[in-house]
Amino acid sequence: MASEPVNVNEFQELARRALPKMYFDFYNGGAEDQHTLRENVDAFRRITFRPRVLVDVRRIDMSTTILGYPTSAPIMIAPTGMHRLAHPEGEVATARAAAACNTIMAMSFSANCTVEEVASSCNAVRFFQTYVYKRRDVTAVLVQRAERNGFKAIMLTVDTPRIGRREADIKNKMIAPQLKNLEGLLSIEAVSDNGSKLAAFAAETHDPSRCWKDIDWLRSVTGLPILVKGVLTAEDAIKAMELGVAGIVVSNHGARQLDYSPATITVLEEVVRAVGGKIPVLCDGGVRRGTDIFKALALGAQAVMIGRPVLYGLAAKGEYGVRRVIEMLKDELELTMALSGCPTVKDITRSHVRTEYDRFN
Ligand code: FNR
Repeated sequence: MASEPVNVNEFQELARRALPKMYFDFYNGGAEDQHTLRENVDAFRRITFRPRVLVDVRRIDMSTTILGYPTSAPIMIAPTGMHRLAHPEGEVATARAAAACNTIMAMSFSANCTVEEVASSCNAVRFFQTYVYKRRDVTAVLVQRAERNGFKAIMLTVDTPRIGRREADIKNKMIAPQLKNLEGLLSIEAVSDNGSKLAAFAAETHDPSRCWKDIDWLRSVTGLPILVKGVLTAEDAIKAMELGVAGIVVSNHGARQLDYSPATITVLEEVVRAVGGKIPVLCDGGVRRGTDIFKALALGAQAVMIGRPVLYGLAAKGEYGVRRVIEMLKDELELTMALSGCPTVKDITRSHVRTEYDRFN
C-alpha cells in the first residue's frame, strides 16, 4: 500500500501499524461476535443507487446546517473516547481538524483532554457528549463546564446502561481510562483482576437506573439543546420527541454495545418516518465512503457522524490524518452527488436509492 492513503479504509491498516495492539483493538473492536460491527458496514453495500442523468452538476454544494449551525458538508465527528491513545495531542488535534474542515465535532465525556483545552484550541462548532453517571452531580458539572466553554449542544448517549462485552479488551486487560475532565471530581479505583479495567470503571460509574425522566433532569441543569444518541426504534424516537429533544442520533454505538442490534442504516428510515421531519435525525455506524453518506441522506438523515475512521486518521497522521479522513469523505460525497444528478444536499431524495426492501422500485 502506498504511504499516502487514497481512501478512508486504508487508514485502518496504518493505524494498526502505528498503535500498540491493546489500543488498536480498543478502537477497532465491537461487542461479542462482532456481528453488528460487520453489518454496520455491509448493510450499506446492499443499498444501490437510482442515479439521474443530464442534470447540470458543474457546481456541487454539500453545505448544510445541523441544529442551525452551518457546516461544509453533512459530516460530523462522532464522540469517541481517549484520543491520546491515538496521538499525544488527543482531542485537541481532532478539534483543530474539525475546524479546518468546517465541520462539527462531538467531544466525548471520556476524553483525554479537558473541555477547556479543546475550547481554547480552535473555533470548531462543538457538541458535548455525556452519559448519566451514578453521580449526577459529576454529569451536571461537566455539562455546565461544556456550556460555559462554548459547546453548542449536549448529546446524551442512552445505549450504555452497562458497557457491552468487548472481548478484545477483556483479553488485552485494557487499561482504565484517563478521563481528564473527571480529575478532581471523581476518583475510582477500577479493580479488575482478569479483565478490562475500562469495563470495570464503566460498571462503577454508569447508572443502569437512568431512564426517560433523566432527560428532564438534564434539561434542568443546562440550557443547551439535547440530542439523544443511541435510538434504534420508532417507539423510542417518538418518546424522545415527546420529551422535547432537539434531535436524534440513530446509533448502535459503533456495534460496541448490544451485538445483533440492527445495522443503523437499516433502521434509519423507521426512525425518520416516526419523527416526521419535526427534528433532525443524525446517523452513525459503518460510514466509510461518500456513497455511504449519500445513502444515509437519501434515507432521511440530516448528517452522518464518523467514529473509527477519525481515530485511525489521528493514529496514523495526527491532526493532518483526521483532516484527510474528512476531506476524502467530502470528495467522495461530492463525486457521488455529481454522478447521481444532485447538485445540492436538498436534491438527494429517497428515490435516489434502492434498498433490499424496495421490491417495487
Ligand atoms: C465510541 N463511541 C462512543 N460513543 C459515545 O457516545 N461516547 C463515547 O465515549 C464513545 N466512545 C467510543 C470509543 C471508540 C473507540 C469507538 C469506536 C466508538 C461510539 C461512537 O460515537 C459512534 O457511535 C461509532 O463509533 C460510529 O461507528 P463507526 O463510525 O465507528 O463505525
